[in-house]
Amino acid sequence: MTAGGAAILLAPPHKERLGKLPPAQLQALKNLNAGEQIEPGHDPGVRAVLESLAEGGWLTITVRSGDTDLYTIRPFKAPPARPSAVEQNRTLSKFAIMRQHKGQFVLEHPMSWCDIDIYDSRIVGLVSGLGTEEGAVADRLAADLKWTGHTVADRAAEDQEFSTRSWGAHELWFHRLSNLSERVLTWEEFGPTRWADGEFPPLPARKASYPGDPITLYAPDIETLRESDPSITAVLEDRVSCRDFDDSAPITLEQVGELLFRTARTKLLRTAKGVEYLSRPYPAGGAVYELEIYPVVRNVAGLAAGMYHYDSFDHVLRPVADDSVVERMLKTSSLTLSEGQLPQVLFVIAARSGRLMWTYEQVPYAIILKHVGVVLQTIYLASTAMGLGAVAQGYGDTAAFNEAAKVDELEECNVGSIVVGSPTAERPSASR
Ligand SMILES: Cc1cc2nc3c(=O)[nH]c(=O)nc-3n(C[C@H](O)[C@H](O)[C@H](O)COP(=O)(O)O)c2cc1C
Repeated sequence: MTAGGAAILLAPPHKERLGKLPPAQLQALKNLNAGEQIEPGHDPGVRAVLESLAEGGWLTITVRSGDTDLYTIRPFKAPPARPSAVEQNRTLSKFAIMRQHKGQFVLEHPMSWCDIDIYDSRIVGLVSGLGTEEGAVADRLAADLKWTGHTVADRAAEDQEFSTRSWGAHELWFHRLSNLSERVLTWEEFGPTRWADGEFPPLPARKASYPGDPITLYAPDIETLRESDPSITAVLEDRVSCRDFDDSAPITLEQVGELLFRTARTKLLRTAKGVEYLSRPYPAGGAVYELEIYPVVRNVAGLAAGMYHYDSFDHVLRPVADDSVVERMLKTSSLTLSEGQLPQVLFVIAARSGRLMWTYEQVPYAIILKHVGVVLQTIYLASTAMGLGAVAQGYGDTAAFNEAAKVDELEECNVGSIVVGSPTAERPSASR
């Protein structure tokens, strides 16, 4: 912003006053503000302003070869001092990611102070073959990538340090992009922006029903449970994971119904500004509620084996699949149970991701995983109160889920799993 010969740099939440400036420097700022590229030129005053802007991370820097733009360094914070020398044979960090973003080819590193837009395919070749090419452009690129932190002197070192070895590239990337950070400072494209409003219709809260006949579930009387349930302290203290189940007296359909009612039923639906919001026994970001539960049954008294969808609105189960893919899911889930036993019932938790993704930017998948934790603990606690055994599982076969549920993974995906059943061993039971 320039006014009365003075200038203020504004990029919320950053703000910097430059004060009164001579006309040539003010004009340079105005040109930059209009999106024009500026050559450093010979005016020492303009050079000084450009240098101080670059030091503060206010300028993008485009590297050219003749008239061709090769790449642009796009800072989101003040860069460190440029390193004086560049070692030979630096290589890309394991965390560097090259991708198409907003119609632009971009090189990113979750811990860098900048992203690099790439316009020229020669640069892509140079990035992948760093250290093997010579010439002015290759040298400049190698120097810039050291400065920007996209390369490391010794790739092997990244695998020797515990901190860098233990993080996967996708994990660090996901962590950085789904949280506010130097890269993500404002809420403009982060959080509940409702970016899809007006462009795409919001997804209904209720998933279309599977066609099979509904199986009515037992619904306990909540008022009675308020009186008869063990105390919250007893439930919290007595909850343990159970990996050993009694197949001679398996969990019953009535217990499955009670557990789903207590943990996952839809209690309320309201609509605001065209979006449907829900209430369930567990909390969920924005009251959007994107999670669905699919009981995968092997041994439940009163219920045929197969995968079902829990309709949380009508409190019924609808059959989804009963073929070999169901067996595959049960088998995968048996890996953590005692002596490889198969689960009596596996609750597969799936996310209708578009429910959240319609409203939220950058964070929805992270929020979905947080919701899974919330649901797992809710099921753990209710199972404990009911004398059932439960064990969460940190993995699931998402491909098998999509095959069985006959849904596209981008619409709905398996994000969590928990095994429930009648426990064998004497376990501390939650008492009042
Ligand atoms: C998100 C999550 C994932 C888990 N994954 C597994 C698993 O894959 N296999 C397993 O045997 N237990 C799993 N567990 C259970 C933990 O091993 C268990 O909670 C932990 O050992 C503490 O014991 P406790 O639950 O009996 O208090 C998981 C628990 C959570 C919350």
